[in-house]
Amino acid sequence: MTQHSNEPPGAGATTLVANRETLERLFIRPENAEARAALIKYMEQILFGLHDFLGRHVGITQEASLKSLSERFVNTRISEHPARKLSDVIDALIEEIAPHAVNVASPYFIGHMTSAIPYFMVHLATIVAALNQNPVKLETSKVVSLHERQVLARVHRLVYGRSDAFYDLHVQRPESALGCFVEDGTLANMTALWVARNRLLSSADGMAAVETDGMAAALSARGIRRLVALVSRLGHYSLGKSAGVLGIGNKNVLPVPVDMENRMDLRALVRMLDDLSRTEPETRVLAIVGIAGATETGTVDPLPAIADICQKRGIHFHVDAAWGGPSLVSEKYRHLLAGIERADSVTIDGHKQFYMPMSCGMIYFSDPSAMDAVAYHARYINRIGSVDLGIRSLVGSRAATSLALGGALDIMGARGYALLIDHGIELARALAAEIRRRPMFQLITPPSLNILTYRLAPPELARRLARSAPADRPPVNAAINQINIDLQRLQREAGRSFVSRTTLATPWGETAVLRAVIMNPFTDMAILNEILDEQEAIYRDELME
Ligand SMILES: Cc1ncc(COP(=O)(O)O)c(C=O)c1O
Repeated sequence: MTQHSNEPPGAGATTLVANRETLERLFIRPENAEARAALIKYMEQILFGLHDFLGRHVGITQEASLKSLSERFVNTRISEHPARKLSDVIDALIEEIAPHAVNVASPYFIGHMTSAIPYFMVHLATIVAALNQNPVKLETSKVVSLHERQVLARVHRLVYGRSDAFYDLHVQRPESALGCFVEDGTLANMTALWVARNRLLSSADGMAAVETDGMAAALSARGIRRLVALVSRLGHYSLGKSAGVLGIGNKNVLPVPVDMENRMDLRALVRMLDDLSRTEPETRVLAIVGIAGATETGTVDPLPAIADICQKRGIHFHVDAAWGGPSLVSEKYRHLLAGIERADSVTIDGHKQFYMPMSCGMIYFSDPSAMDAVAYHARYINRIGSVDLGIRSLVGSRAATSLALGGALDIMGARGYALLIDHGIELARALAAEIRRRPMFQLITPPSLNILTYRLAPPELARRLARSAPADRPPVNAAINQINIDLQRLQREAGRSFVSRTTLATPWGETAVLRAVIMNPFTDMAILNEILDEQEAIYRDELME
């Protein structure tokens, strides 16, 4: 047999055996003192081991090619007998996996929406795992389902700010659902479109319903040829994926142009809607999606105006606030999301700006009966009239993430979270000012919240671009694009800091930009200056011709 490098040391000559006695020792057994000691011992090994490791390992990731790493993970057999003890597995994860994973907790990691988390999240996640509740049904969660409804109502109140009487009525009412937990933002967006689709094509009018009779029957009964959803061209790709799964078709998620500030262009939106009703009377608009914190630019669409348009035309208004939603905790900046309270549905991700570990998607509805459109019952669980949220969630079995979010809201308070939000927004503004100040850089999209994009544009090329006639710009812009593509890769490979990259449409054409997401509380202006300095140095030393 070939000896693979990812085989544990001594594999083959192992003395570990799987038998009833060793198996019993592996299960959580509250009555057993030895089991309790083991639980504590290994938890310490994990926490202290990781802590020491993170102390030693301050960069983003260790230098090793993906190819060389992939060669370590080619053994596809499950060993017949146990290959490693838990302590060895923990050591291996800390010593062999962690160094080559990505240190998203580094304050120099400002490229994605994943960052450092407060330490108590690890403890809360441990409780979620240890209790192993399954909120799909009351019989495997009991009080956890009630607690979950309360946590959902707390976040619903943050978004919609309804009256005490509203929440008193709906918080524990079996017939009401203020929202539900799903796996992630993708499934939250999918739930929003699922509800919108089923409400539009329900059996209430006596015709075929999409959920029971299928899309073809529901559309033909109404003389509809296609459904479309409109979102700015900066919409997250999960909307297209959702439209694919829901039988709408991802090409029927129509991209609305954006204005100079990367917000949905309202005139273009109205023109598209008018054109559709004039030229395609058999097309129905399923939903308009406003973004509160676009993935690439962090921009917020003009939500109040979109709400007016949806209201006037009777269209479902969904707000994708997967990123920006938690900004509502900030007294100073919640006005940036004004209009969100008029949405029919809102997506928010706990694993983004509520700083939770992966993953915690949430979908909220203005109408507590909206989710009836996607209710499913089963004889063995989720019986009619039950308070289970599993009746309405797209996900079946799932972790009780509400325990972690509820705990986090208590520990942080709105003020605690607001400190994080304010820090991100204010530091992003300071970074934008610094980028404007430096001759080597161009700010491409200023921050609305805490995301911005920019690029390194050597002054000589920037001047040439500004002076060229439109027809002569593409090659100059392409040269600047290449510099930024190479720069981002070289900085990532150097492993000290990380900024991400995307491509935006700008007046110069398709433009490669560097994207900064500021959410780590330990990122400060000194670190951001170091990152910009490093980018200038990489350009000077490795890219300048
Ligand atoms: C605006 C927006 N919506 C939806 C999503 C999808 O979230 P998830 O990755 O949790 O599925 C993202 C992810 O980045 C996002 O930025």
